[in-house]
Amino acid sequence: MDAVKKQPSYLVIANVIKDKIAKKEIKPGQKLPSLRTVAKNYSVSLNTVKSAYEHLVSLGLIIGVERSGYIVDAMQPPFFAWFEKASISQKNDRISAEKAWAWYRSYVYEAEQDTLAVIWPHPSLMPNKALANIHSGLLKSYGEKMSTYSHPSGLKGLREAISNHLATRHFYCNAENIQITYGCMHAIELALLSVAKAGDEIIVLTPCFPGYIAVFNNLGFKPVEIPLISQKINLEAFEKTFKKTEVKAAILSSVVHNPTGLSFSEEEKKAIAKLAAKYEKPVIEDDIFGDLHFSEATVKPIASYPNDDYVIYCSSFSKTLAPGERIGWCIGGMWHKKIADRFASSLFTVNSRSQYILAHYLSSSAWPRHLRKLRAVLFKRSNLIRKLILEYFPQGTQVCLPSGGYVLWIELPESNGGSKLWKEAMKHGIYVLPGLTCSATPSYKNAIRVSLSYDESKEAHIKTHIKKLAHLATQSN
Ligand SMILES: Cc1ncc(COP(=O)(O)O)c(C=O)c1O
Repeated sequence: MDAVKKQPSYLVIANVIKDKIAKKEIKPGQKLPSLRTVAKNYSVSLNTVKSAYEHLVSLGLIIGVERSGYIVDAMQPPFFAWFEKASISQKNDRISAEKAWAWYRSYVYEAEQDTLAVIWPHPSLMPNKALANIHSGLLKSYGEKMSTYSHPSGLKGLREAISNHLATRHFYCNAENIQITYGCMHAIELALLSVAKAGDEIIVLTPCFPGYIAVFNNLGFKPVEIPLISQKINLEAFEKTFKKTEVKAAILSSVVHNPTGLSFSEEEKKAIAKLAAKYEKPVIEDDIFGDLHFSEATVKPIASYPNDDYVIYCSSFSKTLAPGERIGWCIGGMWHKKIADRFASSLFTVNSRSQYILAHYLSSSAWPRHLRKLRAVLFKRSNLIRKLILEYFPQGTQVCLPSGGYVLWIELPESNGGSKLWKEAMKHGIYVLPGLTCSATPSYKNAIRVSLSYDESKEAHIKTHIKKLAHLATQSN
């Protein structure tokens, strides 16, 4: 009792909750008692309880969710049995890259917008009307400027607006160090080409966004896959692989990873930034979903931690504002000049009109309001669809509890259950992403990914699709 008394009250409370989470007395996804209830139970102030909860947030154990309080963070280990079983692939396994991408393309481009396969934010989720209004207003004052070339690095106003936005996430970067690109994938491609050459090995955490496999394939890079274990990065395996001479870089998302929706803890992000500096090698951070973390708290990217400029930051507005504008950016750290020169010598500059529109939108109060609303919609959908899956899919199915974003990653009990379900569902006009496309090796056949980027008015239709998927999965189980 004496020892406990010596601890500050917030730590005592945090440790009690931590213990309950470890013992599964409070389960992943479960809501924690309100600040008021805990304050009353422990006879402490609301601020003390808030500090306790924030401490648990910093440990990656719980997340704060807008208007919902705090919940136990994504999956507590062991969540993905197959992650545990998966061995770390140190080989240059490019086995099914072409095949995976061909599959993806074959149905993605044919599917309707309400497909469960892709994360193309439905137009109803994007502030299209506001952007159109800005456009007509700008035509009067900037009409001519909008149809001429902009600066090769991008419109200054847009770069400043991005710099201000990143500062809200404690990532401080001058506008001069931002290169505007044609979307996030373009930023990643520029980064990869500036730090490595065909034949080089690049670390990728799997399951991964299938676009990485496609780009690696196009550019001739060899993926070295490190499976995420119990939704966490295996730092030991990461360092062991990262320090190898053949490995020239790593690419990863630390906030809302696609396809699992997981986010790294503060400690993990700090450690990766440190490793980049220690081995003087680039970590390419894809932060495209970084603004869509369900938490109220500021979620920092790896690039915001000390890294001696070895972290290259890539992102875009494709998931938050307007995928069709194709506006992204790259903050290249040590390689920034090389990246900017490469861009200027080929594409020279990005669409001026889109840059003007987005710069104006980002400088308005509508932008943070829109983000808050989008996060709330996605959080609601993610809970709704996840609950349906858990209710209707065969026993033994596991669904990741995402920390943000647009997707749910589903692991079926059968070893090739995901691939079977994907094929069977297509026959019924239902499109999902097969887990197999999320690796260059024949892994993740048991998994599928479903998207939450649908039109709100089609929710009933989506729910029917989920139940149909469950039925098909149960039949073939
Ligand atoms: C993780 C990730 N990175 C990059 C992209 C591509 O972004 P953009 O459309 O801005 O090129 C996507 C698209 O889904 C993605 O999921």
